[in-house]
Amino acid sequence: MKVVTTIAALSAEIQAAKINEKTIGLVPTMGYLHEGHLTLAQAARAENDLVVMSIFVNPTQFGPNEDFESYPRDLPHDLALAESVGVDIVFAPSVEEMYPHDGGIRIHAGKQANVLCGASRPGHFDGVLQVVAKLFHLTQPTRAYFGQKDAQQVAIIATMVRDFNFPLEMRVVPVVREEDGLAKSSRNVYLSEVDRKQAPAINEALELARDSFLENGDVVEAIEIATVHIATRTNGKIDYIELLAYPDLIPVTDDTEQVLLAAAVYIGNTRLIDNRIFNVKEGL
Ligand code: PAF
Repeated sequence: MKVVTTIAALSAEIQAAKINEKTIGLVPTMGYLHEGHLTLAQAARAENDLVVMSIFVNPTQFGPNEDFESYPRDLPHDLALAESVGVDIVFAPSVEEMYPHDGGIRIHAGKQANVLCGASRPGHFDGVLQVVAKLFHLTQPTRAYFGQKDAQQVAIIATMVRDFNFPLEMRVVPVVREEDGLAKSSRNVYLSEVDRKQAPAINEALELARDSFLENGDVVEAIEIATVHIATRTNGKIDYIELLAYPDLIPVTDDTEQVLLAAAVYIGNTRLIDNRIFNVKEGL
């Protein structure tokens, strides 16, 4: 496995791969890898000649009062894990390498960013699109891999890929969970022992709400069930629990086929997200 930290070194690797007509799988990450990321890398390994993983905590997607400085980082451990799942190249640039100059041009996420995490994290998805567009240009992937845990991110990046004609396929990999159902996340390390015991209630709440919605199609009741479950089982503060048509992220109507049931909850000081995406008719 090669570790490159400069754009020049990455470009040389990509050029060589392209000359040899290799397919390239890109796994963009912010590091502090867990099984969720490794599942993405394994999916990329299975389908591509060359697997590139980026490890970069992207400052432009963090708000001024968010956890950019304290976001967990452990590059040596990440490199060992990446190598264990067959990643060929890790691209781990510095902030200066990724953003040497700022000409002020931005990609603005559209309406899909006005709800859910976008509503509570203004500008977050603009920052995500900025770095993802750069990573797409730099690695020229045949396929790019994202986790369904960030369902809104997936929907917004897919819109950018479609509207800006990025020549790649997006692959979405299901949420990876702990044994008690808690969705794996780099931020789970922030949880105290008490928080950690309470956190699985988010997944349980989503399961109950999904079952309720499939039974009677009532959005308000489904959200109420999830809210009560979290309120009675945790000391957490709900940021949102919403049920929207997916991937447009607009209110559910009689014509809606696919829905996203998503929650963001502060357990202690840690903001955790989780979701279910399912077909209204079949519950898949
Ligand atoms: O999902 C993440 O970890 C980040 O938002 C991403 C896609 C790597 C962009 O920084």
